[in-house]
Amino acid sequence: MKNILVTGGAGFIGSAFVRYMVEKYPDYNIIVYDKLTYAGNLDNLLPVSDEPNYRFEQGDIADRETIRRVFSQHDVDTVVNFAAESHVDRSILSPDAFIHTDVVGTYIMLDESHKHGVERFLQVSTDEVYGDIEPGEFSVEGDSFLPNSPYAASKAGGELMVRAYHVTHGLNTVITRGSNTFGPYQYPEKLIPFFVTEAIDDRPLPVYGDGMQVRDWLYVDDHAQGIALALFKGEAGEAYNIAGEDNRFNIDVTHRILNLLDKPKSLIKYVPDREGHDRRYAMNCEKLRGLGWERKFSFETAVEATVNWYRDNEWWWRKIKTGEYLDFYKKQYAARLAAADQA
Ligand code: NAD
Ligand code: DAU
Repeated sequence: MKNILVTGGAGFIGSAFVRYMVEKYPDYNIIVYDKLTYAGNLDNLLPVSDEPNYRFEQGDIADRETIRRVFSQHDVDTVVNFAAESHVDRSILSPDAFIHTDVVGTYIMLDESHKHGVERFLQVSTDEVYGDIEPGEFSVEGDSFLPNSPYAASKAGGELMVRAYHVTHGLNTVITRGSNTFGPYQYPEKLIPFFVTEAIDDRPLPVYGDGMQVRDWLYVDDHAQGIALALFKGEAGEAYNIAGEDNRFNIDVTHRILNLLDKPKSLIKYVPDREGHDRRYAMNCEKLRGLGWERKFSFETAVEATVNWYRDNEWWWRKIKTGEYLDFYKKQYAARLAAADQA
């Protein structure tokens, strides 16, 4: 392992992984390959942009020609595939890009990795492939896939292709399935950065349905280090859950954010629910613990650090909350908030 191609490395979790790898492993070359969609942001990579073992290439994971060029130019021997469309609400509004990137793009990365003789391919996946989990139950790696959103289905489709390339072509693959991740540099469409930045501006926080959905919250640095461990030590052909093992109701997370910012509960607006909304995710992550992983950050410590980061880094998020972001906000929230006002 020497030249590691990190697709989607300008996104939220990918950039945390790149910052970690570039600094911790100066002998590895880290090449970021990213299309720079609305979610890709070179500001996320500023802390490593001058490091000699970091390179950036712009491109689409579904574009074979560019991947071939990048593979041979950088003599790539390892691939970590973060690149994806990642937001469930956008997959409900317009699923095309999810099929393009999460399914077709993953297939093209696998096919070119196989042809190029890549030694290790890590696919970054999600607990959403397991679908809705009954209270008291925890998903384990052998459970069946029951994805419910177009996003979850596209990630499950990508994973099945990873399995096929391992079984059929002997590609050395590993899959990680992470839970709900939060921290600095997260695009402010996901629950925590969206609510923090909206609350800072005293704007309404649209809680879907009754707010009693449960998510398992994982700090981004713990997620990135879990992926690195699976990359180095995971068994070929296996999948590993990565969970914060901290399951919370959305409404409790919302109250905590308001409390940390000293903002009133009156900002909360209960709005019509997300279509097909999974009620609960929860995973068992004994298998990754068996490789030596443990979570370093508790939810309480990490959520406070995250709120402080958004409070102190308005330069990062204010310029994002313009243009395309506002178009999405209108499509996703205008009718919902109007319905809440009339109720
Ligand atoms: P993100 O949306 O912040 O970043 C995605 C990155 O991929 C962006 O930099 C974007 O420009 C890039 N990208 C998108 N389409 C591309 C394409 N066709 N070719 C090349 N680059 C492309 O996502 P994230 O939250 O950092 O998630 C990263 C990965 O982790 C995804 O695979 C996601 O499914 C998975 N995941 C996310 C979470 C979470 O809570 N955010 C949890 C578990 C797993
Ligand atoms: O579980 C892992 C997944 O976590 C990742 O694979 C996805 O990439 C990531 O986006 C995330 O998916 P969720 O749909 O769980 O995350 P999101 O932040 O969109 O929503 C978290 C919960 O909060 C969910 O129950 C929906 C709810 N929610 C979200 C938003 C954006 C609201 O109530 N209101 C909102 O405005």
